[in-house]
Amino acid sequence: SSEASDGYKGQDSNSDILEALSNKVRACQACTLHLNRQNTVFGYGPIEADWLFVGEAPGSEEYKHGLPFVGRAGQLLNAILFSIGLTRDNVYITNVLKCRPPGNRDPMGEEVIQCEPYLHGQIGRINPEIIVAMGRFAAQALLKSTASIAELRGQRHEYSELKIPLVVTYHPAYLLRAPLEKKKLWNDLQFAQTLFV
Ligand code: URA
Repeated sequence: SSEASDGYKGQDSNSDILEALSNKVRACQACTLHLNRQNTVFGYGPIEADWLFVGEAPGSEEYKHGLPFVGRAGQLLNAILFSIGLTRDNVYITNVLKCRPPGNRDPMGEEVIQCEPYLHGQIGRINPEIIVAMGRFAAQALLKSTASIAELRGQRHEYSELKIPLVVTYHPAYLLRAPLEKKKLWNDLQFAQTLFV
């Protein structure tokens, strides 16, 4: 309506742009992952989210449901979000790859490169206060770095020319295998919280 503020109108067109981007992902043929594809996993969460979490790629549960982090790693993520006062419904969650690598293999460099514009588009439209890169693939893709998680944790980074604050933490699937490290993810999110302006 004519009474809508510019902010509201901006948000409206941003959600149209995100929707168009997710349609593009569904039709994408930029890498070989589209060849046997039955589903894509674009991302989930409100466009006005302050927190944006980025994982690696959909696993079998995510692929089945078309939603990110709905399997075991997702349940652990939910619990950690809850512990710092967040829920799935107030954060945006996505992955570096929008298609599932067969047999849950690691993403290949070429797949990451081809998929990158989608993640970049999402981040630009959501324009979060903070990005949390979970695991090596998200950290390295978002920071264009080859450094290890251990080297990248515990610092304030910035994402691209958008200069959005970014922190690096472990992938929740790793924490399922190393439960004593959970505290580190919690610490990293506490640190992320201090970076809000
Ligand atoms: N692992 C990921 O990296 N992403 C998901 O969506 C689920 C598991």
